[in-house]
Amino acid sequence: MKVLILGGLGNLGSQLVVTGQQLGYEIIGWDQEDIDLTDWPAVEAKLAGQRFDVVINTVAYNAVDACESQPGQDLAYILNGDLVRQLAGWCQTNGAIMVQYSSDYVFAGDQLAGYTETDQPNPINEYGRSKLAGEQALIKQGEQGLQYYLIRTSKLFGPRGTSPATKSSFFDIMLKLAATEPELKGVDAEESCFTYTPDLAQATWQLLADKFPQGIYHIVNSQPATWYQALRTLQQLAGLTVPIRPITSADLPRPAARPQHSVLLMTKLPPLRSYQQALQEYLNKSK
Ligand SMILES: NC(=O)c1ccc[n+]([C@@H]2O[C@H](COP(=O)([O-])OP(=O)(O)OC[C@H]3O[C@@H](n4cnc5c(N)ncnc54)[C@H](OP(=O)(O)O)[C@@H]3O)[C@@H](O)[C@H]2O)c1
Repeated sequence: MKVLILGGLGNLGSQLVVTGQQLGYEIIGWDQEDIDLTDWPAVEAKLAGQRFDVVINTVAYNAVDACESQPGQDLAYILNGDLVRQLAGWCQTNGAIMVQYSSDYVFAGDQLAGYTETDQPNPINEYGRSKLAGEQALIKQGEQGLQYYLIRTSKLFGPRGTSPATKSSFFDIMLKLAATEPELKGVDAEESCFTYTPDLAQATWQLLADKFPQGIYHIVNSQPATWYQALRTLQQLAGLTVPIRPITSADLPRPAARPQHSVLLMTKLPPLRSYQQALQEYLNKSK
């Protein structure tokens, strides 16, 4: 299987590259240094004459607060919306399966029981709206024959991508702060599921290898948590001695509204291990 991974140096993309190679697939990774994906004519020219069985797009504009104003908002709609539509068209024309990632932020966060794959998205911030634009473009192309997997996930953590610009995960930020700060604070809200990128990468390959029906899938580690609850878990597992304190969302004002309960329910796949187990593995491997 010949697979093109877009964002191959990012946090998730680099795990897909590693695990895909371990599984024996022919992996081609492109990142910012290979092509600017905001320049569709250049992307089309680079794709011309190439054949891939699968195109996995991990590229996104992820700066949630920057999406609320310019120029972030424009970039979000270009990368999270337009690019998905353009890639979906290319994949259909060229007979490739497309894998696209989306977010719990397409949901409003007012459903305490969580969201299934068939629940109606209703985003409350611009990042969520831009990701929803990508979802809708993909689904529309699917109605015209594209084979696709739309994977929603949330709160990624794991080994940092090799691109110098990749964002640090919540746990990495907290581990760094623990070395310098007198106390750590975590918002005791925004309940959702943490997801370990190696687990998400493996589950993605499983969807493809087992030829699951195309459509929307939720893939997250089990055991939802608020940021504060996850910080407590980190404190226990990493043996942090620095005190930790819960704060409210109001204590940490940010430009973008956050869904308060955006737990993604996996109703189409077996559950993944808990994020606590995955975090333990991550900490062991990082030693
Ligand atoms: N992170 C989360 O917590 C989270 C939660 C829910 C859903 N998701 C979704 O999961 C997917 C993967 O997220 P991630 O956190 O792994 O992303 P990431 O680490 O930011 O990786 C994205 C990669 O795309 C590259 N890229 C950005 N703009 C580009 C451009 N114009 N042309 C070419 N390459 C470009 C980035 O390069 P540079 O590093 O050089 O910019 C980076 O290597 C995304 O669809 C995201 O929306 C993420």
